[in-house]
Amino acid sequence: MVDLSVQLGPLRLDHPVINASGTMEIFELAETFGPHVLERPPVAAYVSKTVTLKPRAGNPPPRILETAGGMINAIGLSGPGLDVFVKEDLPRLLGLPCPLIISIGGFSTGEYEVIAGRLQEALEQLVGEGWIERAGLELNISCPNVHSGCASIGSDTHETGELVKTIRKRWPGLLVVKLTPNVADIAAVGRAAVSAGADAIAAVNTYKGLVVDRVSLRPYLGNITGGLSGPAIKPLALRSVYELFDAVEAPIIGMGGIATVEDVLEFMSCGALVVAVGSAGFRDPGLAGVLAHQLAVALDTRGLTRAGLLGLAHRPV
Ligand SMILES: Cc1cc2nc3c(=O)[nH]c(=O)nc-3n(C[C@H](O)[C@H](O)[C@H](O)COP(=O)(O)O)c2cc1C
Repeated sequence: MVDLSVQLGPLRLDHPVINASGTMEIFELAETFGPHVLERPPVAAYVSKTVTLKPRAGNPPPRILETAGGMINAIGLSGPGLDVFVKEDLPRLLGLPCPLIISIGGFSTGEYEVIAGRLQEALEQLVGEGWIERAGLELNISCPNVHSGCASIGSDTHETGELVKTIRKRWPGLLVVKLTPNVADIAAVGRAAVSAGADAIAAVNTYKGLVVDRVSLRPYLGNITGGLSGPAIKPLALRSVYELFDAVEAPIIGMGGIATVEDVLEFMSCGALVVAVGSAGFRDPGLAGVLAHQLAVALDTRGLTRAGLLGLAHRPV
């Protein structure tokens, strides 16, 4: 069988399929499906939901709706905040037999700095020096459902560069930057992130959208707008990955509508070294593991190597 392992900065992944932030609650899955989910997670690295400094209630309901070929959500980064994450979630997450990528979101550069600093201290305490091979950081600078900070930073190349430069100085581990597609030129933002020290780019977060309630003919979501995800966004996301691959010398974690092994092949061909399952994981929480297995079979059947597949769409026929 094909060797699917991937080196993502200092993290070694058994295969290239992970989850997209905010779409898999692994402890809830273990409660529903049993402890094997924690013993053999379907993902090669577990990405946390975005952690914020303070507890957040998120946006008013309704916050989520199925749409044609996808879903729209306006959760608005709800969660118990950093203290609870460090005390309750982090020790349990470090018990998983796969690396951990902690997604963080701030409302200023200072907030990102505080979160990164606290996480580093906690990781050093819990794991010791080897933590760099166990855990990485993903800067969410791309949430369309909040109105400042992490929503706007990723829309501006200068702010992105300044934030990444600041965090790079104090975070020695894997540093991923997750980009918003709600910009005119995603490649320019990716370039700014990588030249400021990002190790990898995650693309894309959701597309800002709106759904209208059919009875009242008013916006359905409590937040008015939300983030569109799922198969409906796949061609848009593929274009972003394609452009980023040409623009940056850094690994890309591709996502946006991935639901089948063909989707995985397409993202890798456009330039994704690693892929993430988001919305499709709600329907089938084990999908990432299935896709990894199917990827090995598909490569074998097509006589392709991982290196041959990566960026294939950029090469002439
Ligand atoms: C319900 C929901 C919650 C999400 N929460 C987060 C989050 O906390 N942080 C983040 O960076 N992205 C979040 N996302 C975006 C996903 O990580 C992913 O970028 C996006 O959904 C595109 O992938 P998909 O089409 O496969 O779902 C969320 C998406 C959904 C649908």
